[in-house]
Amino acid sequence: MKKKLITTGLAVLLTTTTMSAQTKLRADNIDEVLKAMTLEEKAQLLTGGGNDGFVGSGAMLGHQKKIVAGAAGTTVAIPRLGIPATVMCDGPAGVHIDAHREGDTQTYYATGFPIGTCLASTWNTELVEQVGQAIGNETLEYGCDVILGPGLNLHRNPLCGRNFEYYSEDPIVTGLIGAAMVKGIQSQGVGVSIKHFAVNSQETARTKVDERVSQRALRELYLKGFETTVRRSDPWTVMSSYNKINGTYAQGHKDLLTTILRDEWGFRGIVMTDWIGKRGDLPVRQEVQAGNDLMMPGYPAQAQDIVADVKAGRLDVKDVDICVRRMLEYIVRTPRFKKYAYSKPDLQAHAAVTRQSSTEGMVLLKNGPAPLSSPLGGKTPTLPLSLSSSQGGTGGGLRIALFGVNSYDFFSGGLGSGCVNVPYVVDMVQGLKNVGVSTTPLLTEIYQNYVKYARAKLKADKNPMMWFLDQGQPKLDEIEISERCVAHEVKEADAAIITIGRQAGEGMDRKIDGEFNLSRMEQDMIFRVSDQFHAAGKPVIVIINSGSVMETCSWRDRVDAILCAWQPGEEGGNSVADVLTGKANPSGKLTMTWPVAATDHPSTKNFPQDLDMYSYREMNGWGSGIPNESYTNHEEDIYVGYRYFDTFNKEVAYPFGYGLSYTTFAFSKPAAKVSGDGVTVTVTVKNTGSVSGKEVAQVYVTAPQGKIEKPVHELKAFAKTRELQPGESQVLTMQIPVRDLASFDEAGSQWLTEAGTYTFRIGNSSRDIQATVTAKVTEYTEKVNNVMAPQQLLNLLKH
Ligand code: BGC
Repeated sequence: MKKKLITTGLAVLLTTTTMSAQTKLRADNIDEVLKAMTLEEKAQLLTGGGNDGFVGSGAMLGHQKKIVAGAAGTTVAIPRLGIPATVMCDGPAGVHIDAHREGDTQTYYATGFPIGTCLASTWNTELVEQVGQAIGNETLEYGCDVILGPGLNLHRNPLCGRNFEYYSEDPIVTGLIGAAMVKGIQSQGVGVSIKHFAVNSQETARTKVDERVSQRALRELYLKGFETTVRRSDPWTVMSSYNKINGTYAQGHKDLLTTILRDEWGFRGIVMTDWIGKRGDLPVRQEVQAGNDLMMPGYPAQAQDIVADVKAGRLDVKDVDICVRRMLEYIVRTPRFKKYAYSKPDLQAHAAVTRQSSTEGMVLLKNGPAPLSSPLGGKTPTLPLSLSSSQGGTGGGLRIALFGVNSYDFFSGGLGSGCVNVPYVVDMVQGLKNVGVSTTPLLTEIYQNYVKYARAKLKADKNPMMWFLDQGQPKLDEIEISERCVAHEVKEADAAIITIGRQAGEGMDRKIDGEFNLSRMEQDMIFRVSDQFHAAGKPVIVIINSGSVMETCSWRDRVDAILCAWQPGEEGGNSVADVLTGKANPSGKLTMTWPVAATDHPSTKNFPQDLDMYSYREMNGWGSGIPNESYTNHEEDIYVGYRYFDTFNKEVAYPFGYGLSYTTFAFSKPAAKVSGDGVTVTVTVKNTGSVSGKEVAQVYVTAPQGKIEKPVHELKAFAKTRELQPGESQVLTMQIPVRDLASFDEAGSQWLTEAGTYTFRIGNSSRDIQATVTAKVTEYTEKVNNVMAPQQLLNLLKH
């Protein structure tokens, strides 16, 4: 069979070669090239070249040589038509390729930038665009044409294993940060793939779960971030997700990939599938007909199916041609087609970019008074640390007892395809040392030795099924911190820092016990350290080194300060030290609510929990008919994150938008002016404290009572000040398109902004509103297609 196909392919190749020997792809002859292509070549172009940087492992063209080692995949070269293979690497936190290449002594480490959650927490679109430029530059110089990111799925629930790659529970934050990132990356002449389109908000059974969701929640939440990014930044490519939405695979969903994405939003690029082969219950022809241009990573059977389906009349060659044309349009934009002369990226310059952005994304959650008899002078608040010591640290400087394995094995990023092979990670010991703060010698030695041992053990015990643990830094077990150990350290140190690390990634969701919550060992460590350090009048600071939210209420009163450092990229320890010592004033704000308990989110009821071996179940095809594996009902509907907590007045640990500073700010002179198709909101922000800093103005809009039920308020715009000196003010101006005030009216299949008086509530968290202004808005409607309706009753949560 295989032999026969190859012979047929060759015959066609030979005939067409003589027919159009001169035809080579140029930006202005796409029609001509399309005409010159054989059906086999067309099928091949729609089917990637296989995994791992190999070109042409597809059906007809055979293996060619690896282009970029460790890249996620390639398209297929058709040399006779001058079509080069193009290369796709992961993302989103930097370029994911191998650091070493066979027969090459040079290294190809890529900069580890902060994870998506950390970047979004900067609320600084200009800064994110700069990070995008640096990521785009590395994508280009390392020989890749497209980076597979940013990830624009919503944090529907804190247990999703890939939340770290995503920006927020809110679609406006997602869309505006996403657009900034895309603009930055694409300014370098390479493309992005915004992913995973759409509703890929759980990892459990991700390749088959049916996400059952109302049209309204789809439009207002799960698609909205993608829509904003597409409309504002013109991404080259979109990656369709593995899951189904309301009964149809996203990858074969014409309503999603053509009607909404292209017809309504005006998307002009290509859609590629997430990395999966031929699926039993989704014919490739349905993917082509849906407008999914490229099957990645690409398997021979997929190209063969396209050819066979066209020949048998099951697939119209016109549908194939639509995708092929878009592929050619994509290819002529790529650096590889343009024969870019590659050089090395400036990793040192990019390290400075990552350090600045991660510092700005860190969120100061707590900054209480230091213990009264503290050698830090009983100072209020605990942070920033003053650098002098009573304990005789190096050169009379501050000396810290550093607890927690992740102080010494600091996480730069998460696990799975989203990891980056970084040249180094600055841990807490090094970061503190770089600002003149030493750590207690014995404890440091014990932990450093343990980390060496635990890493080696993990490698030796490697389970081949847990492939994602090989991509990134897996979590090492904590070690028991005894009372005796703490007693020893108290005498040696001025203060204690405890790093609590959390790791998560592709292919697995998080558990509540020991992952969202503290483990027993971590709890003992926090309680023992804080009891003894406080008894000696010394402060205790917790650093959270995690990609997503965790429980804090059961232990936060026991410690003096908490800094959420996220997984901040390779410069992590330096950035933490910058914030702890006040070299940088924290200005990060949460882009998701931190609940008291994981079960407080209404979506937790319909989220896979505490199921063991998710990936095994998925691979073995288990789970048929099991809630949250074969289907997930979005009963919470639009009440995701603060939309739920604020509307239903539920207690939270830290609200959406929250984050402390070392200075204070006042908001004044709020104004809202309606003109044309938008509302312009302005507010004056003044630094009323004693050190310089930045502040974020967040505009929450409360709609008038109308026919559509709404959350109590929704974020519609935000802006960040420049670094304001004490006493300095800045007027921030924010545009809200009237279209963004609309709700999705399912009955009328339309976006509807009801007429009336809207309240614009400006604050620095969803629960700290500092200035309010109202404006009268007239009705706005925009009809859209009535598509993607759920097929089952969803039992939706009501206000
Ligand atoms: C992930 C994508 C990734 C792709 C290529 C998939 O398993 O879901 O996010 O881009 O692999 O590595």
